[in-house]
Amino acid sequence: MPDSLVLTRPDDWHLHLRDGPALATVVPHSARQFARAIVMPNLVPPVTTTQAALAYRDRILAAVPDGLSFDPLMTLYLTDNTDPAEISTAMASGHVPACKLYPAGATTNSDRGVTDIANVSDVLAEMEKQGMVLCVHGEVTDAAVDVFDREARFIDAVLIPLLRDFPSLRVVFEHVTTADAVQFVSAASSRVAATITPQHLMYNRNALFTGGLRPHHYCLPVLKRETHRTALVDAATGGDRRFFLGTDSAPHARYAKEADCGCAGCYSGYHALELYAAVFDAAGALAALEGFASHHGADFYGLARNTDTVTLERAGHVVPAAFAYGDDELVPLCAGETLGWRLRTH
Ligand code: DOR
Ligand code: ZN
Repeated sequence: MPDSLVLTRPDDWHLHLRDGPALATVVPHSARQFARAIVMPNLVPPVTTTQAALAYRDRILAAVPDGLSFDPLMTLYLTDNTDPAEISTAMASGHVPACKLYPAGATTNSDRGVTDIANVSDVLAEMEKQGMVLCVHGEVTDAAVDVFDREARFIDAVLIPLLRDFPSLRVVFEHVTTADAVQFVSAASSRVAATITPQHLMYNRNALFTGGLRPHHYCLPVLKRETHRTALVDAATGGDRRFFLGTDSAPHARYAKEADCGCAGCYSGYHALELYAAVFDAAGALAALEGFASHHGADFYGLARNTDTVTLERAGHVVPAAFAYGDDELVPLCAGETLGWRLRTH
């Protein structure tokens, strides 16, 4: 078994960085590991224009520590009122390669999301024409549909018609959590891909209730049964180019997680690569980590692969209990636990 692993520097194809004082905590963590990240636009108010995206990008860049280089790839948040003309502005900027589709009400700060796909059909047609990627939060929002079934239902209700109506649109089915989604993406054409988070590879839904309610394991889409987790591990480690790394690292202050109505989101931005390495190691698939973490996403987005490297070492290292986060604290996934892999800092 190798004791160290050199990888092409990876990218994070799905990341929440928030704004304001949060950036000082989370941007250095991501920039230490990743060269680029697709940055989610679900701020309050959401990032709906290229102008807002570029201003946000500048605030992120201001938080990158000296000596590290990090390229935030920005996204626009689609609403029922997105102007199709915004797509060419975004593409021309060179910094906004994707739009994000949140079904209204599906998750954190999605209330201004799309209420009916028909409302954005002109925008999707323009994206298809211009080769812009659509990132999708793949869950239906119907209150009558069980929360554990919302992703599988989305495939038939929304995704299949969407792919049929826009036959050249490139789509990332974000943070897939089910065997249904894995099967769908595996059978789809190469214009469909999926990101997979560390928490959905590491945990099944029992982790929400181990010894009591575990708010730091709560994210959306919610953790699923063990059969789904193993299907995700098989997909991530199997070498299929349609599956790639997207942490969905979603920081929330401790008070917002440990609350009556706690926010959805796991913070993995500090140690995501080490978490993925542990999963691939346990699956006997360390050789597949580089494709998943460093090649497949860049290839799908049509961007050059990174040329520098990172080194992971097999060495115990304890995850901090919390980080300072504005006026509060940020509790990472696996807080206080010992990880078996450590990213070497050069
Ligand atoms: O758990 C989640 N948190 N899922 C999402 O889709 C959004 C994210 C957030 O922004 O907190
Ligand atoms: Zn997300």
